[in-house]
Amino acid sequence: MTDNTKKSIHGEWSSRFAFILAATGSAVGLGNIWKFPYITGENGGGAFVLVYLLCVVLIGIPIMMAESMLGRRARQSPINAMQTLAEEAKADPNWHYLGWLGVVAGFLILSYYSVIAGWSIAYVFKAFIGSFSGGDAKDMQDLFAEFTGSPLSLTFWHTIFMVTTMSVVARGVQGGLEKSVRFLMPGLFVLLMLLVGYAMTTGSYQRGVDFLFVPDFSKITSNVVLTAMGHAFFTLSLGMGAIMAYGSYLPAGDSIAKTSLLIAGADTAVALLAGIAIFPLVFSNNLAVGSGPGLIFQTLPIAFGNMPGGWIVGILFFVMLVFAALTSAISLIEPAVAWLVENHGCNRKQACIWSGTLVWFLGLGTVFSFNSWANVKFFDKTIFQLLDYLTANLMLPIGGFCIAIFAGWIMSQANSESELELSNPVYYQVWQILVRYVSPAAVFLVFLHVVGVL
Ligand code: PFF
Repeated sequence: MTDNTKKSIHGEWSSRFAFILAATGSAVGLGNIWKFPYITGENGGGAFVLVYLLCVVLIGIPIMMAESMLGRRARQSPINAMQTLAEEAKADPNWHYLGWLGVVAGFLILSYYSVIAGWSIAYVFKAFIGSFSGGDAKDMQDLFAEFTGSPLSLTFWHTIFMVTTMSVVARGVQGGLEKSVRFLMPGLFVLLMLLVGYAMTTGSYQRGVDFLFVPDFSKITSNVVLTAMGHAFFTLSLGMGAIMAYGSYLPAGDSIAKTSLLIAGADTAVALLAGIAIFPLVFSNNLAVGSGPGLIFQTLPIAFGNMPGGWIVGILFFVMLVFAALTSAISLIEPAVAWLVENHGCNRKQACIWSGTLVWFLGLGTVFSFNSWANVKFFDKTIFQLLDYLTANLMLPIGGFCIAIFAGWIMSQANSESELELSNPVYYQVWQILVRYVSPAAVFLVFLHVVGVL
């Protein structure tokens, strides 16, 4: 049983429902609506989606349970949580470096996440002033190219997003988050359904759906599998301690298994709906499926510019996207802020100023990689692409691998069993097999394949 007397110094969720809302807010974000469609396009469609779904079920859900459990047991920021749990298990104190890996990953991800969230804010204004009205595919491509070609605009919107995120985090995660996610999730569902409705009228609906769900296995390479697996971690916010930090505010006695299933289900539903809304538009407008990070910014505005009521739907959509990005961004920085407060005696505001400034600077690398430094490449990748590869494809799976090993092998069985409180011992065994063998082996094998050992 979780120790009821032990509480996080940062506060606690008001209920399990609040944790579900916050963790769903963390999971559902740009990863679902912006990244999932464009990487699906780049990686050939159905087969990629299938691997991604398999990874969510076999790796994502068990690791999400493990992360929430570790956080709730330790009731501290991930770095200190790993230290405490390693001591409790009489294991190597170096486990706390796992917390560090997460903090670094969170900084790096937020640095580019904020730039893309900035695009979304800019698109709220573009929607508002009618920039999409009556536009065709070419107009939207030009609009996007002109916008991302300006380092000044991108820096401006990136700054607005970072300042907003840090001021929310400075106030403490619980209150504001609970409220905003309560409106956000139903709102997003409704808008995505409307967009799916529009997609049905384009004449390419079936083609779009087939692209997403009919697998063509000839498209599968080890890098496609790595990207799909990395995305399962990214989209569920796993492998870096975000869910661990949120788990540490989870009251004792709530079911971790049910919450994890619900969160993963909602997250997957949003991603698939976004895909179903976008690909018919891609095909009906003869756009390239592999257009990259600009995909949703070049396709959805065509729908907003031409559907009845599109002006307001467009505004609402981008507003929701910004909120979805905000509730995820908060969780990317929370492990670092919680750690600064625990270990350096700063208050939340100071912790936010320090960490936010650092992330803002890092973000400039991504800003320039879309314009002035578009030709600056490392390993054939722009700074943005490199950051994305390094974090989503390497750091999160490595973090997740270690979390699975810790939860499955290092933490005592008695502790994990009592912490998870599964209603049926068979469920516990299934979870244990997944975190002990299946998830770590899957991550390991994919890595071996990518480096060419297999
Ligand atoms: N899950 C978020 C998304 O899909 O947009 C991104 C993210 C948030 C990744 C928090 C990792 C994380 F720790």
